[in-house]
Amino acid sequence: MTIEGVIVESKSGDGMWGGRFEQGADPLFCAINDSLPIDWRLVQQDIRGSIVWAQALGQVGVLQSDEVSSLTRGLESLSAEAFERSAPPIESGAEDVHTWVEQRLVENLGPVGKKLHTGRSRNDQVATDLRLWTMEVLDQFCLTICEVQASLIELGERTLGFILPGYTHLQRAQPVLFAHWCLAYVEMLERDLGRFAGARATASQCPLGCGALAGTAYPIDRDWIATQLGFDGPCLNSLDAVSDRDFVLDALAACASCSMHLSRMAEDLIVYTSQEFGFVEPDDGVSSGSSLMPQKKNPDALELLRGKCGSIGSAHAAMLMTLKGLPLAYNKDLQEDKSLLFSAIDDLGLCLRIAARVVGGLRVNESACRRSAVRGGTLATELADYLVTKGVPFRDAHEQVGRVVRASIETGVELDQMPIESIQAIASEAGADVAEWLTIDGAVERRSALGGTSQERVREALVAARERLGTHRQPYAKPEVIA
Ligand code: ARG
Repeated sequence: MTIEGVIVESKSGDGMWGGRFEQGADPLFCAINDSLPIDWRLVQQDIRGSIVWAQALGQVGVLQSDEVSSLTRGLESLSAEAFERSAPPIESGAEDVHTWVEQRLVENLGPVGKKLHTGRSRNDQVATDLRLWTMEVLDQFCLTICEVQASLIELGERTLGFILPGYTHLQRAQPVLFAHWCLAYVEMLERDLGRFAGARATASQCPLGCGALAGTAYPIDRDWIATQLGFDGPCLNSLDAVSDRDFVLDALAACASCSMHLSRMAEDLIVYTSQEFGFVEPDDGVSSGSSLMPQKKNPDALELLRGKCGSIGSAHAAMLMTLKGLPLAYNKDLQEDKSLLFSAIDDLGLCLRIAARVVGGLRVNESACRRSAVRGGTLATELADYLVTKGVPFRDAHEQVGRVVRASIETGVELDQMPIESIQAIASEAGADVAEWLTIDGAVERRSALGGTSQERVREALVAARERLGTHRQPYAKPEVIA
């Protein structure tokens, strides 16, 4: 196997299928075939599955109870041994994690170790391990997503009265509360939570007991196995069980979507940190300087949130490409699933933690936001709405205000500063009360229908978001250790 370019002597196949082969494996073949450095992460899941499998074999009389006990003890001590290791045991020469566990079991227990694989295949084994790992990691993710939501809610709470310009096409559009911006991303992450829950549900079917492809020849109680391992139930078709990785695809799709949301949030903040905007400033701990330009403070953490989205999204595309042409049932192409899933999960896990950290340390410049929110004709819609209250049909009001805006641009006077006569010259229905109507606070407050940006609606939305957060955090209150 290759570790950073070094080919270690592999025993690929030794003891597993040696009987059929005259020659040992070519080191070059081992370099592409061996997966221990990657699938070592599944060692605890593999051991857990093996303990349940030994018990299931005991239930149907394939193993004696003393053999089940000895295998269980042997596997438990391997679990402790694996926890102790800081790196994959590549010196073992084992092809993959399943081989390592069996190899060590035989070394430690002797012949009884050779009985564990009865009626089982690495095909149902690896699918079981990866599903278990995915379920555990997705549970953890839900907690981490909640942390990002919590930091956004907190930011919204501490900036509740702040108004910034909302944009469409990155052109100033209408004033909105900064907290409303925060809550937009809370909502997106909320749907990501749903996607991860969906991916977890897809993963929660147990392949163990499906053998290589056709099922197992022993009357194993697969429902019992599934329950023991914490699955919702067993996979119902053995060909499907060993060959599909749609649960990986679903998890990667959820990762891609979540990463895309973080990336968009990062992009907003990158724009807002530039001197041209100056709305927000990340704290020094998540920013970097320039080796040449002493004045620079760059939002690198945010840029990396945006940058990582590329590789996370491509992991989903790569998995789809890997799966699309595979004949039933298991094919070795499927081994590629793990590096794609693991690296996407690692990247997104880090991104989520960074996102919570950056948002938590964000300083918002209220006056810069406010100054910008009143410029650029952001009250034009307000003026049109005002004219509607005076009986002008909206289309006519829109046209009149368009001309008022042109006059505002030509004279360089913002709408709320224009003399009433200049407005009336174009929009004759405008009265003396137009001035009090044309404020960004008024514009915000009038958006008081559900989902709008008025203080009251946003305050309610913050409370509701906090409540939801409390319920999400509960089911995952006891995080498990992930190898
Ligand atoms: N390392 C393999 C994988 O990740 C385990 C399954 C091997 N099965 C086989 N028939 N060669 O997919």
